[in-house]
Amino acid sequence: MDRDLSKTVKKACVTGGAGFIGSQVVRNLLARDIDVVVIDNLSVGRRENVPAAATLVEADILDSAVMDDIAGCDAVFHLAARVAIRSSFEFVVEDTTANVVGTANVLRGATRADSRVRKFILASSMAVYADSPQPTPISEDYTLQPVSPYGVSKLAAEMLVRQMCDQSGIDSAVLRLFNTYGRGQALSPYVGVATIFANAMREGRAPSIFGDGEQRRDFIHVEDVAQGFINAMLHPTEGKVFNIGSGQALTVNQVYSAIAQALNFDQPPVYAEAVPGELRNSIADNSRARQTIEFNPKHVFADTIAGVLEGVGGS
Ligand SMILES: NC(=O)c1ccc[n+]([C@@H]2O[C@H](COP(=O)([O-])OP(=O)(O)OC[C@H]3O[C@@H](n4cnc5c(N)ncnc54)[C@H](O)[C@@H]3O)[C@@H](O)[C@H]2O)c1
Repeated sequence: MDRDLSKTVKKACVTGGAGFIGSQVVRNLLARDIDVVVIDNLSVGRRENVPAAATLVEADILDSAVMDDIAGCDAVFHLAARVAIRSSFEFVVEDTTANVVGTANVLRGATRADSRVRKFILASSMAVYADSPQPTPISEDYTLQPVSPYGVSKLAAEMLVRQMCDQSGIDSAVLRLFNTYGRGQALSPYVGVATIFANAMREGRAPSIFGDGEQRRDFIHVEDVAQGFINAMLHPTEGKVFNIGSGQALTVNQVYSAIAQALNFDQPPVYAEAVPGELRNSIADNSRARQTIEFNPKHVFADTIAGVLEGVGGS
């Protein structure tokens, strides 16, 4: 099978394309003159996030009616998911259904006999990894032991993608995204620490930090993440898994300080008890992505956060 898709992808499907990361992937695909079909149930995503040049199918990935839209595309970018880590304990059934059964349904469309799909790219997460006691970058070979039901659902989705795409001769890639920040992240009490901090500070409230704030995270800009998706389409990936992170560690306290400085906010954080399901250290070794798909993140958190905050959150 010809796996060089650099010139032959004419039409792509983006599930979750009305969301924060998916809509950026949509914009990058349209910029390459690729037709785009977005499948999104608009549970979190917004219609206005989808550029007019793309076709929006307002549907749930659990709905078998979306299979025709998927099968008619050359490449599938599967980002639709229930993404809130903390609430995945309470909503374990709902999240497992959307993230695992939903992925199976998307794969069923991609792998059916009349499907045109030749590339399948899954948005997975750093949440599939075991906690790392050391603040050192972890590679894709690090222990897989999710500490949240969300992480379990992403790991199950990864395995389904690998198995079904291999079986069907579809080139696939799994992108394990680290903490993604940028304009356009929907405000929710569970998602996106930078967005949560910024919105609280704007309202004059000191945000809470869970634990001592010395937990380390890898912040990667949404435009770098979207470029990672495009590069994964352009290169043969053979079912491989890639860490999509900056490789740079920031403590949550440092994130707080950077945002407080950008917003001229002078109150200290409120420290609250650590919550289950959160990793102590989560830093990407991104060397495989750099080498295999020419992943080359350009944004540095400290340099970009002030500009990002001009547009973060809000209604
Ligand atoms: N934002 C991050 O830091 C981060 C980190 C790791 C992994 N990810 C993964 O990246 C992907 C995109 O995340 P995001 O931050 O853009 O979140 P998001 O909530 O903005 O986007 C997800 C989109 O999926 C849609 N959706 C949810 N359930 C659906 C369903 N059953 N059927 C159809 N559409 C559905 C939502 O309406 C939303 O538009 C997700 O798979 C997420 O797990 C995100």
